[in-house]
Amino acid sequence: MSDTPRTVLGDSPSFPPSDAFRARANVADPGVYAEAAADPVGFWEGWARRLDWAEPWHTALEWEPPFAKWFVGGRLNACFNCVDRHVEAGLGDKVALIGEGEPGDVRRFTYAQVRDEVSRIGNALKALGVGKGDRVCVYMPMVPELPMVMLACARIGAAHSVVFGGFSAESLHERINDAGAKVLVTADGGWRRGGVVELKRIADEALALGCPTVERVLVYERVGSALGAPGPQSTAGTPEYDQGVWVEGRDVRWADLVPSQSVDCPCEPMDSEALLFILYTSGSTGKPKGIVHTTGGYLTQTYATTQWVFDLKPDDVYWCTADCGWVTGHSYVVYGPMANGVTQVVYEGSPDTPDKDRFWRTVEKHGVTILYTAPTAIRTFMKWGDEYTERCDLSSLRLLGSVGEPINPEAWLWYHRVIGGERCPVVDTWWQTETGAIMVTPLPGITATKPGSATQPFPGIRTAVFDETGRDVTPIHGAMGFVACAAGGEAPATGPAVTGILAVTQPWPSMLRGIWGDPARYRQVYWSRLPGAYFPGDGTRVDEDGYFWLLGRIDDVMLVSGHNISTMEVESALVDHPAVAEAAVIGRAHEIKGQAIAAFVILRAGFAPGPETEAAIKAHVAHKIGAIARPDDLVVCAELPKTRSGKIMRRLLRDVAEGRALGDTTTLADPGVVATLKDKYESAEG
Ligand code: WT7
Repeated sequence: MSDTPRTVLGDSPSFPPSDAFRARANVADPGVYAEAAADPVGFWEGWARRLDWAEPWHTALEWEPPFAKWFVGGRLNACFNCVDRHVEAGLGDKVALIGEGEPGDVRRFTYAQVRDEVSRIGNALKALGVGKGDRVCVYMPMVPELPMVMLACARIGAAHSVVFGGFSAESLHERINDAGAKVLVTADGGWRRGGVVELKRIADEALALGCPTVERVLVYERVGSALGAPGPQSTAGTPEYDQGVWVEGRDVRWADLVPSQSVDCPCEPMDSEALLFILYTSGSTGKPKGIVHTTGGYLTQTYATTQWVFDLKPDDVYWCTADCGWVTGHSYVVYGPMANGVTQVVYEGSPDTPDKDRFWRTVEKHGVTILYTAPTAIRTFMKWGDEYTERCDLSSLRLLGSVGEPINPEAWLWYHRVIGGERCPVVDTWWQTETGAIMVTPLPGITATKPGSATQPFPGIRTAVFDETGRDVTPIHGAMGFVACAAGGEAPATGPAVTGILAVTQPWPSMLRGIWGDPARYRQVYWSRLPGAYFPGDGTRVDEDGYFWLLGRIDDVMLVSGHNISTMEVESALVDHPAVAEAAVIGRAHEIKGQAIAAFVILRAGFAPGPETEAAIKAHVAHKIGAIARPDDLVVCAELPKTRSGKIMRRLLRDVAEGRALGDTTTLADPGVVATLKDKYESAEG
């Protein structure tokens, strides 16, 4: 190993794995990269064989671009692999889920208990008419019952469509109808910042908008039961909340149905390509895309990446802070970790309740060894200051992960130093809802990390950088460069650094199988931009060592606190407000959130600008989409900068919002517009 790590990005050093870490790592031989590159399909078959199959596959990959089928002919059950398999292997008493409620209540479930509860839920869903292939919409707080409902769907061969509990009634309504869900599983509410998110009330509102496919609604009592047995930190008393209306014949109380079910609920052997779930993500047009994931390939890649990227050991206590409403919660709370039989923390609430040390108290309390969180959270903790981390014992931690957006080197270094005590490797993992599992990432026992770079594609994955004309301009392929050097191998290959568009150039097991109900859009969005390659929508730089530095979206998708929000979606919510005639939305750089939403609106005649109008418009967007889409800035203007052909020039709006000198304005129909806007924006800020 080199004693003088190479310097990248100015002063930032690189971080080779420590000898101590490498000695115990699940994978420490850089040879895995070359081996997988020589036979990627064989590599993935090797992982698939470590799962439990009811029937083996006859063909590992059928690739008719852009449609892939993995492990064709094979049959398996995802829930069996995540739960029963461990019980049968004698790990029934191992704790699977440590549910830490926001009020401080803790509920532990062993794998045997999870198997029983998931079976009861599976039978309850069947009693409500759910069968193989049906879709179940899940709108719940982040309590252990949420992953268990997901697993129960998988167990009986139904597909789940989880909608994040922060989404509005309209968003929920749209997703229920697009998926054609037969049953909705929700809760009376969930705890957030000492208050209650009224899930049942919002669900009622969604259903009142018309959801013809929904026959029954199963309601878990979270807030009711938590109030009955308040945790040690719950001193705030009972906030008022609205439980919605009870519709007899439609609504069923969890307590009236689930506990009385039999624990005998067989795992349906499913085709490898059977639908496992639909998960909605924002696209560059207003309508969310229902991303389709299937069973065998998805489970194989989430299983493999969890084991190698997080270096999972049997005695680890793992904590991924994502909500199951996002793909991270699907792949790295439920399927990947549970297929590996992990013990994990599932936390319901906010990071500052009752105090800003809540994450660190939780790490200390449960002895968390692996923490996987998002850059936006890390930057927030940085801003809060080190006093909250210093008062807690973080010595149990041994590995840290990051996901959701590019992590700036300052945040990376703070995470490494303050949270990781300089002893924990940091894995910055790039992937998407569409990729299903981690794609570009360090392997902690092999890779010398560089703060801000997700480094190299996982073995068996091939990424590239393309130029604007669709040419592959990747300087060096494969991860045998800097990596091998860090592990004491040959001198690394180097090449010139290039910047361009990220591409994935061969199919991977957990790739999306399509957009629910819209194969044409699937082709158009992902497979028409780059010849023969998958287009994720991200820009990337590849440095002289072949390391990937992800640069964020190049389309009209914003990354706000790591969540995908389309500019079009916010624009249509804005023009839906009676006061708004026209709107343009951009993501501007934001210290904590990565990007903040800046909205430029033209009011209709008869509406006066002012704080009240602006607040009402912002509230309208939050109501239509959810609080995460509420614009941070709202600027009322007389005109928007448009080209002569009428296209809004977002680049100039970004210049305005980020306080830069104005770029080229010569293509504008009226160059005066943007200068006026700039004055206006700056005076609004000051
Ligand atoms: C977009 C996908 C992956 C689960 C959470 C987000 C950005 C994600 C990274 C990273 C740079 C990242 C990309 C990607 N992104 N992880 N480590 N470095 N950018 O899932 O909502 O589907 O968003 O998040 O822009 O395309 P998603």
